[in-house]
This record gives sequence, structure tokens and C-alpha cells, in this order.
Amino acid sequence: MKPTDIKNEIVKLLSANEFLSGEELGDELGMSRAAISKHVKGLQQVGLDIFSVPGRGYKLASGIDILCYDKISSMLGSHAGGLDVCNIVSSTNDIVKEDIRLKSNGHVCIAEAQTDGRGRRGRQWYSPFGANIYMSMVWHFENGFQAMSGLSLAIGVALCEALDDLGITGAQVKWPNDLLIANKKVAGVLIETEGYSDGSCSAIVGCGINFKMADDIATIDQPWTDLTSHANEQVDRNLVVAKIVEKLRRTLGCFERDGFGQFKALWEAKHAFANKTVCLTSGMNKFVGVAKGVDHSGALIIECINDAGTPELQHFHGGEVSVRSV
Ligand code: BTN
Repeated sequence: MKPTDIKNEIVKLLSANEFLSGEELGDELGMSRAAISKHVKGLQQVGLDIFSVPGRGYKLASGIDILCYDKISSMLGSHAGGLDVCNIVSSTNDIVKEDIRLKSNGHVCIAEAQTDGRGRRGRQWYSPFGANIYMSMVWHFENGFQAMSGLSLAIGVALCEALDDLGITGAQVKWPNDLLIANKKVAGVLIETEGYSDGSCSAIVGCGINFKMADDIATIDQPWTDLTSHANEQVDRNLVVAKIVEKLRRTLGCFERDGFGQFKALWEAKHAFANKTVCLTSGMNKFVGVAKGVDHSGALIIECINDAGTPELQHFHGGEVSVRSV
């Protein structure tokens, strides 16, 4: 068994919520107590709250809301096809990329922890065990990359709508791929692609949603928040996952059929920086102006002042936007 499979098995056995001794776990998995202890330490290092009581063994801390395949698939009802619920993976994007052409549209992988979670621009995505939601969905586009323009914006709209449906209001989109609540980042989207010789391609839509973060995180370099801080009542992580999966599948189906145009007004209605003075950084260049909406391809429109001193609408396809304090 691979080390990650062993850890997955330990979590599964402990999920029954009983104390299990190192010996019992070892017997179950065919290894020594010392080996079990090493794997438990590894799980604790990825953020899983397992405690040990001398003479009784190991137990998962109470209140851990473990992802459950049966719960998620029953919430998805008859549409539950293509659902992988994993414990520890490198990155859910990597998992869905394996044999991707054999996977049908809407196939999704959700994990408890990622050891190599990736954000945009080569950043790491903080992915401790059980704290957040890490998921990736596959969608194939027969017409290739050009059929995908604006996709990440449509995904942002889908995530906002899913949160609204769950009673978590106030989520807004930040161009191109972030979700904010109260001006703090609550989710991010990383879309990777695989292209094929027949001109078609597959999108791997990776979403990281902060669910319940620890308070003492020093590794995140921007203001962040999480869903539990904005929910009126306790939210079930499995329900949030099911709602998002359902929304993403529906959104991707509509997007494939009719493109980004149908989402443009919805995106603009949720635009966190609408009519604010922003700075867009693209490589070494910086552009300052008033953020307007987006065009039909998902490019951000900023009203900049041109060399002649007159306002001019410029369309940006890439870059990082921040609000400029005036
Ligand atoms: C960003 O805002 O930088 C994008 C973050 C995307 C993170 C998600 S978590 C699930 C999927 N797997 C990854 O490795 N990254 C994405």
C-alpha cells in the first residue's frame, strides 16, 4: 500500500468515532504500531486533529465533519455520476487529469487535504485536512480553447449562486477568478487545460473554498475569510460540496452550449470592484482606472485616461487587479 493509501485507511477506520489502539490499527492494516504511529503523525502534520490517550489509542477530535461519499451522492440524487471522494491527494486537479479522456463531463474529485495544492501564478494553495473544500471537475470542449473564454468568470458566478442558495450571502467576484466576502478572499478558481490533436480540449476546473480555517495562519499573504464566519447557522460541509457540484455541473453545461454571454450580467451584478478605482498589473505594466464591467469574452473593462487626457475603455485579458486607495 502507498503511504497515502495507508493514511486514507487510518482516517476511514477512525471515522467510526471510536478509540482504536495502535495495535488494532496495525492488525487491520498489516503493520507495526510504530508504523501506525508514524502515519498518524503524518496525518496530524497535514492538519487532521487526531488525539491519543495512553491505554485507549487514537481518536478523531469530535466535531470533525468528514466528507462522506454516501451523503454527497444521495444529495446529488440521480445525477451522482463521476464522484471521487478522497482523503489526502497531491492536488485534486492532478487526480482528475489521470485518464481524463475516459472521464465524463462533470466528473469531480473532492479531497480532505492536498499535499501539493496549487493556486494561480504558481502560488501554493493552503490545503489542511478537513478545514476547507478542495474540488476539481472535468469538462470536455469539442471546439477547443476558444470555446472556453470567460469560463473562470462563469465559475465565479456559479460559486456565488451556490453560496446564496445555502443562505451564505454577500459573496462577490473579483476578476478574474476570486470570490470575496466582505472584501476578503473566500474562494479561488484554478482552471488547467489539456489540448488534443483533434482540436478539442478538456478543462480541469479546480475550486478551493475556505470552509473553516484555523485562526492562526501565517502563510496566507492576503486578507481571507471562511464560510462558517458568514453562515447564520451551522453548515454541513457535505451539503456545501453537493450544492457546489450541482451548480458547477449545471453552469458548465449551459456554458458549453451558449458561452459566456449569458453570465455577463450576472457576473457584473456581483462585481466587487464595480466603479472603483483599481490598479491592474500585467507583467511590468500597471494600468490605473475605473473598473467597469466585462466584455463578451470575459475581459475586464477599465476606463483609463489616455495620453490625450481623455477617458478610454480598455479591455484586459490578463493581470492582477487590486483596489487603489484614493
Ligand atoms: C487561486 O485563487 O489562486 C486558485 C486556487 C485554486 C485552489 C484549488 S483547490 C482544488 C484545486 N486543486 C488545486 O491544486 N488547486 C485547485
